[in-house]
Amino acid sequence: MSTGYIDTVVAAIHAEAKDILRYDLVDAQGHGLPPFEPGAHLEVYLPNGLIRHYSLCNDFQDVSHYSIGVGLSPTSRGGSKYLHGALKVGDRLRVSTPRNNFPIDQSGEHFTFIAGGIGITPILAMIRWCVAHGKPWQLHYLARSRLRAAFLDELQDFSQQNVHTHFLDENAGKALDVDVAVAALPSDSHIYCCGPASLMESVQAAGEVSHGHERMHFEWFGGKAPNSGDLQSFKLVLRSSGEELEVPADRSILEVLEEKGHCVPFSCREGLCGSCETRVLSGTPDHRDFILSDITRAEGKSMLICVSRAKTAVLELDI
Ligand code: FES
Repeated sequence: MSTGYIDTVVAAIHAEAKDILRYDLVDAQGHGLPPFEPGAHLEVYLPNGLIRHYSLCNDFQDVSHYSIGVGLSPTSRGGSKYLHGALKVGDRLRVSTPRNNFPIDQSGEHFTFIAGGIGITPILAMIRWCVAHGKPWQLHYLARSRLRAAFLDELQDFSQQNVHTHFLDENAGKALDVDVAVAALPSDSHIYCCGPASLMESVQAAGEVSHGHERMHFEWFGGKAPNSGDLQSFKLVLRSSGEELEVPADRSILEVLEEKGHCVPFSCREGLCGSCETRVLSGTPDHRDFILSDITRAEGKSMLICVSRAKTAVLELDI
């Protein structure tokens, strides 16, 4: 995973919908930017010390700039509030090189995109990839209202037969019937979903059997962890020193290590970025991240220590 960063300048800010702004970022030195694949995101290092993740939504074929869409969260802890309230054109912004936890399966023959609200951002880049590669696709785009649906203008550039919008206020508050929509999809369609956790859980439940796990793809940006449930304490053993530490139910492995003065890499602290991935030497991890593949989880040889825990009473890590 790349750990590089880029200093950018905010070249433009556009209002895309109510409470959603698009930021166009260019290299501060005037250089071209590294290429990215659809589904990729940037880690954004805010001047107030916070780190946030935003999907790239511009055309992957044009890296003269990066575009990110940011929705103002009513419960913002300082990320979207800072971007919406303080960031101006001409300001500098440090970002990571593009990272991709939501890659498009380029061997797929048909693609279905289900986007809820600001979840349209990675999907927009994926639609552009489908168009560029002549792949059949369709989009279900859900939002509370047309006013709150970002990038509607850009979606006009695509075949309108492929675009299905569902606005709550235009349907008497009735949401899309996800079961019916998923059942109507071609069985070989790859389904990509990004949006509120409740939408992704519904899509996951509806498509798991009909489309198979390998054709279901989700971009989790926080919300409900893929594996939640009661938290238990366990013993942590560090290979290098043989040190034994107790991880209580209300602390993460990362927190316990920090308290004991260990310096371990981290970034998001939410199981979203992969910075804290650590090798497991014995014991069974209880994966609670959003990004490891099913194969990696099943192997149990590595884990993200900011959120994941142990299923066994003792867990030994390569630290
Ligand atoms: S710090 Fe980002 S996944 Fe752990």
